[in-house]
Amino acid sequence: MSEKYRLSRRVFLKGAGATALAGAATSGASLWNPGTAVAAPAQDASGGFDFDTPYDRVGTDCAKWDTIIERHGRENIQVAMGVADMDFRCAPVITEALAERVRHENWGYLKMPEDFFPAICDWNRERHGLEINPDLMALSDGVHPALIAALKALARPGSRVLLTTSTYSGFYTDLRESHTLAEESPMIVENGVHRMDFDDLESRISQETDALILCNPQNPTGNCWSAEDLMRLGQLCLERRVVVLADEIHCDFVTKGNKYTPFATLPDQAVVDNSVTFQSGSKTFSLAAMKVAWFHSTNPEYFRKVQDQHMAQTNTLGVVAHHAALRGGAEWLDQLLVYLDGNHDLVESFLAENVPQINYAKAQGTYLAWLDVSQIGEAIDAEAKAAVASETEEEPVTAEDIIVRWLVENAGVYTNAGSNYGPGGEGWVRMNLGASRQLIQLALDNIAEAVSEL
Ligand SMILES: Cc1ncc(COP(=O)(O)O)c(C=O)c1O
Repeated sequence: MSEKYRLSRRVFLKGAGATALAGAATSGASLWNPGTAVAAPAQDASGGFDFDTPYDRVGTDCAKWDTIIERHGRENIQVAMGVADMDFRCAPVITEALAERVRHENWGYLKMPEDFFPAICDWNRERHGLEINPDLMALSDGVHPALIAALKALARPGSRVLLTTSTYSGFYTDLRESHTLAEESPMIVENGVHRMDFDDLESRISQETDALILCNPQNPTGNCWSAEDLMRLGQLCLERRVVVLADEIHCDFVTKGNKYTPFATLPDQAVVDNSVTFQSGSKTFSLAAMKVAWFHSTNPEYFRKVQDQHMAQTNTLGVVAHHAALRGGAEWLDQLLVYLDGNHDLVESFLAENVPQINYAKAQGTYLAWLDVSQIGEAIDAEAKAAVASETEEEPVTAEDIIVRWLVENAGVYTNAGSNYGPGGEGWVRMNLGASRQLIQLALDNIAEAVSEL
């Protein structure tokens, strides 16, 4: 670890007042001191929520930090920027609702609150202009279980499912679970901006193709698909009898000047009727482990078929948290979106000015930054190192895995390897910006320092 890197870490810890983290990292003592890293109240007198104070999650069994620390060692992880959840204190309305429910000390089976579906419908109508028919909506305990059910219902075992890559790595798990196969159509990249390759997509549709998984906004590229793109895609799928499964879990995250268009708001009813949409508050309010999601369709036949393959296993706290968030969390989210937009801007401008070896075209949506690190890969000879590592390690190692390891070892920053996201991810990593700006700045400073020594 270089002296400068040590220095930037010390400066950060001083600035953040994160004494719990500082002490622990040097002494090896317990890393989690509840409360010590939370300096400010959740909301100040003028109604502002505190996204700035780093919220220490280490030692809470959180996948984003603790899994990575277990793998790489506490001393090597300054900023964990992998798994897609956020490092913020949740909206206070959620904590209040949960605290109130916890005071009632019985956890028997839950009857769905009458206002739960109306809350989902109102949220979508007010924020996205999307009208959902509650009779054709069902709850799930996650987008994954719902997507797997839809694939089982609407795609034959062994059939092909179209993916426009780079796309969310979890879809590959869903395909495995539903015994379907990926048909990958790599997106075209121009000046760091991704677009669908419609000719390629069309050429990949055959008698074997039953479904397409649309990711809107797209994880990991952050693309918010335009109405024109969605119409073109939707018409193609309709003509070729390919069902559209629209995963819109990231729908609430849009950066300034951009727009999320729900697939189900397209102006052609036949196109819309050829789809099922999946949503959740799990990204919006960072409630991932609360295990609540929902799916809806305008097509009663599709809806019934998916329902037949699906059994929701929702839980009381998840429902309470989502209900409170949907009914009372809009202001928190609005402030958060401004904050996240600032994080994206910071990464874009900092890298352009200080680390020109890494290219970032600001995302249109999501809190994820998709970084072109191919020059780093070349500089550290990642391909060759991956080949050597693959000979001795149990799992194949990609060049992007080597870049991720290099960033951990030299900058203390964990990101996700682009190779996880299908063809097109070669030379890319995904960086999660859902965290305090101080942490983002620390990560950037460390990366700049590490790259300058190459
Ligand atoms: C596009 C997308 N779909 C689904 C999921 C997972 O959804 P859930 O946790 O509700 O199963 C994620 C999580 O990162 C995601 O990014």
